[in-house]
Amino acid sequence: MIYLDNAATTWPKPESVYREMDRFFRLSAANPGRSGHRMALAAEQAIERTRLALARLFNIADPNRIAFACNATDALNTALKGLLRPGDHVVTSSVEHNSVLRPLKGLEKRGVTVTKVAASPAGWIDPNAIARAIGPETRMIVTTHVSNVTGTIEPVAAIGALARQRNLLYLVDGAQSAGTLPIDLAALPVDLFAFTGHKGLFGPPGTGGLCIGERVAMKDFSTLREGGTGTRSEEELQPSELPQRFEAGTPNTVGIVGLGAGVEFLVDRGVANVREQETLLMDRLAAGLRKISALTVYGPEAAQERGAVVSFNVAGWRPADLGTILDQRFAVACRTGLHCAPEAAKTIGAFPLGTVRLSLSIFNTAEEIDLVLGYVKQIAGSPPL
Ligand code: ALA
Repeated sequence: MIYLDNAATTWPKPESVYREMDRFFRLSAANPGRSGHRMALAAEQAIERTRLALARLFNIADPNRIAFACNATDALNTALKGLLRPGDHVVTSSVEHNSVLRPLKGLEKRGVTVTKVAASPAGWIDPNAIARAIGPETRMIVTTHVSNVTGTIEPVAAIGALARQRNLLYLVDGAQSAGTLPIDLAALPVDLFAFTGHKGLFGPPGTGGLCIGERVAMKDFSTLREGGTGTRSEEELQPSELPQRFEAGTPNTVGIVGLGAGVEFLVDRGVANVREQETLLMDRLAAGLRKISALTVYGPEAAQERGAVVSFNVAGWRPADLGTILDQRFAVACRTGLHCAPEAAKTIGAFPLGTVRLSLSIFNTAEEIDLVLGYVKQIAGSPPL
C-alpha cells in the first residue's frame, strides 16, 4: 500500500509510538492525578512529559496552558462554545472544516452571528476581507492554518495581528499544520490553537489539545464538560486552574503517551527538517500532477505555500471512482469527496463531488510519488467509469 491519506490520519507512526504505548499500557497505565501510589504517579509523569514536549514543540512557556482534548474538533468546540455568547459576532472563512462550521451553525441558533469571508479560488483567506467583516459585536476570528482541501497555508500572522489591533480573540484550527509546519506560539499572535494528535504529530487517534494564550480570560471561558480532576475535590464547581478546567474525567493516558512519543520523534528530527523534506516531496507530486493533461490541480502553485496536501480532479472522472481505482488497482490510499469541508469545495469550484486528495508524511518516498504520478496519468488517459 502506498499511503497518501496522511491528512486524514498519519500512517505509519514512528516505531517509538507503538513501543511506548505498549510499554505504558502494560506497565504504568494507572489513573494519573487521582491516587497516590507509584503507578499513578508514573502515569501522571508520563502525561506531563507529553505536555512538556508539546510546549517545547509550540514554544509555550507554561505547559499548563495546553489542555488535552480528544481531537481538534473537540478543542475547537471547547473554544467556540466556551467563549461565544448570544449577541457575539464571529468572523471565519469559506475554507473551514466542519469542525468549525458545524459548531458555528449550532451557535447561530443560540444568537451568535457569523460572517464567512470568501477565500480565493486557490484557497487563500485575505486578511483585508477579514478586516472588512469586523463589526462592533465581533468577538472572535477563527480560521484554519492549513486548508485540508487545497493545502493552502493561510496568513495566520497577518490575521492574528489584525485580531490584536481590534482587540479580538483569534482561534486557529491547526489540525493540518501541527507537526508539519514549524509553529512558534510565543511569536504568533494566536490566542487559541486547536490541534489533533493523530495527524502531523504522529500520535494515535483520540488525542489532541487546545493551547490557551494569556489574552483569554478564564472568567469568560465556560466549560463544555465538568467532572473529576483529582484536584479540589471538595469544591462544587469545576476548578478555574489550567489545565484541569478543561480536563474533566480520566484522560486517554495510553493515547497521550503515544502522542508524547510522536512529538518527541518530531522534536528530535526537527519540524523544520520535516517541513523541508515534505516540501520537496510535495513539489515533486504537485508539479508532476500539473504536467498530466486533463487534470485540474487546486491550491497554490508553490510547494512552499502549501502544507502536505494536494487536491485534484480529472476531467470527466468522478473523484470517488478515481479513488476506488487508485485503491483497488494500484493499492494507493487517498481520500476523495468533500473532505468534511463543503464550503472549501464550493470556493474552488469542486462542489458537490469534491476532489481527489493526496497527502504526505515524511514516511513517503520520492519513488512512491513517481509511481503514483504514473498511476494517475494512466487513469487520466483512460475513459471514465
Ligand atoms: N479532517 C480529516 C481530513 O481532512 C479527517 O481528512
